[in-house]
This record gives sequence, structure tokens and C-alpha cells, in this order.
Amino acid sequence: MGQEFDRAYWEDRYREHGHGYGAPPNPQLVAEVTGLAPGRALDAGAGTGAEARWLAGQGWEVTAVDISQAALDAARERAAALDTAVAGRITWVRADLTEEIPGSGFDLVCSHYAHPTGGYRAFFDRLAAAVAPGGTLFVVGHDHADDHGHGHGGSLEHSRVGAAEVAEGLDEREWEVLVSESRSREVDRGGHRAVLHDSVLRARRRA
Ligand SMILES: C[S@@+](CC[C@H](N)C(=O)[O-])C[C@H]1O[C@@H](n2cnc3c(N)ncnc32)[C@H](O)[C@@H]1O
Repeated sequence: MGQEFDRAYWEDRYREHGHGYGAPPNPQLVAEVTGLAPGRALDAGAGTGAEARWLAGQGWEVTAVDISQAALDAARERAAALDTAVAGRITWVRADLTEEIPGSGFDLVCSHYAHPTGGYRAFFDRLAAAVAPGGTLFVVGHDHADDHGHGHGGSLEHSRVGAAEVAEGLDEREWEVLVSESRSREVDRGGHRAVLHDSVLRARRRA
């Protein structure tokens, strides 16, 4: 039977393993969003907040949403300890994004390795709808090429998001797809080097 990636799973995972607390921001986000004029951003599935902190450091007002209170508590504490001005630009919200998106009209909606249960299409449709005209939708997922479980019960099935699949759901009269590709990068996995394949989508909602 497949692993259920529900709230209980994520609360346990963060309480038991505290995963990602010291991680740097996602390099694909840094590469694609550096230089965009800061505005209001939604980080969907913010985890322990590395991307939210980086965005706030760039001047974005960030709504960082996660299903796990344990993740958000750690993220809030870490942000406050590092830089109070940056922390002041982040609002941490516990919500199930398959049920609700807290807010709308964001200049940037980003999601890195989201694990929504249920259909991806509905999930990304909802995230896309929260982007303001002229704003950006940015998604990073584990590419289908990856098959080394990152401790997710050995399966990445739920975190595999093809940029092309997300792009397919965007109406081209309303969206301009600027990046839709797979990128590989080296990461440190407990002292050894591994290659991670990211699927990266950046799309701009036409104004
Ligand atoms: C693989 S982690 C990625 C965390 C972070 N974005 C990163 O790149 O390190 C997936 C995150 O999505 C959150 N998540 C999973 N399902 C969710 C849902 N339905 N609504 C909101 N957040 C969810 C999890 O709690 C977890 O923090």
C-alpha cells in the first residue's frame, strides 16, 4: 500500500527528524527569482522556511503556508533568531492547500517539492489562480528521473512533478511559460555526493 502523505505524516516527520532545518534556499528559486521586483509572495508547502526567509531577505512580503505546525514552529523560531527584520516580512500560516489557499493576487506563488495528496492538476490550478496578473508561478518538483528515496518511505511518486505537466494546465492565452525544463545538480547526502534532478517551471501570468 502507498504511503499516505497526510498531516499526521508531516507532523511526525518534522517532530521526529526536523528535516531541512539548516538547509539553504532552493537554488532553482534563487536562480529564477533573483532580480524580480519584490511584492507579495506565497510559499506553498514552506516546510522549515529556507525559501520564505530567502524571499523575505530579498524584500518580498511572504505568506509561508504548510500543513505541519511542527514545521512552521521551527521555521518561525529560526527566522526570528536569524534576522528580525526579515522575520517581520513573513506570515506563517498552517493550512491544507488542497482545501484552501490563504489569500489571492500574489505577485509570486512558489512551490518546492510539494506533496499534495489527491490530484496534482487541481492543486496547481488552485496555486495558479492565486497569482495576480503580471505575477509569476514558480514550481520545482523532483523530476521523474529521480528514484532515490529521500527518506519518504523509499518512494518519490508523490513529489514527482513534471514542469511540462504543470505547464499543460496553464491556458496559453493567460500564461507565458518562461522556463519548463529538467535540471540536475549535486547535493550532499550524509557525506556522499548525489545527483538530484529538478523539474522547474516558471510562468508569467499575462497582465
Ligand atoms: C518535501 S517537503 C518540502 C518542503 C520545502 N518546500 C523544501 O523544499 O524543503 C513538502 C512540504 O509540503 C507540506 N505539505 C504537504 N501537503 C501539504 C498540504 N496539503 N498543504 C500544505 N502543505 C503541505 C509538507 O508539510 C512539507 O513541509
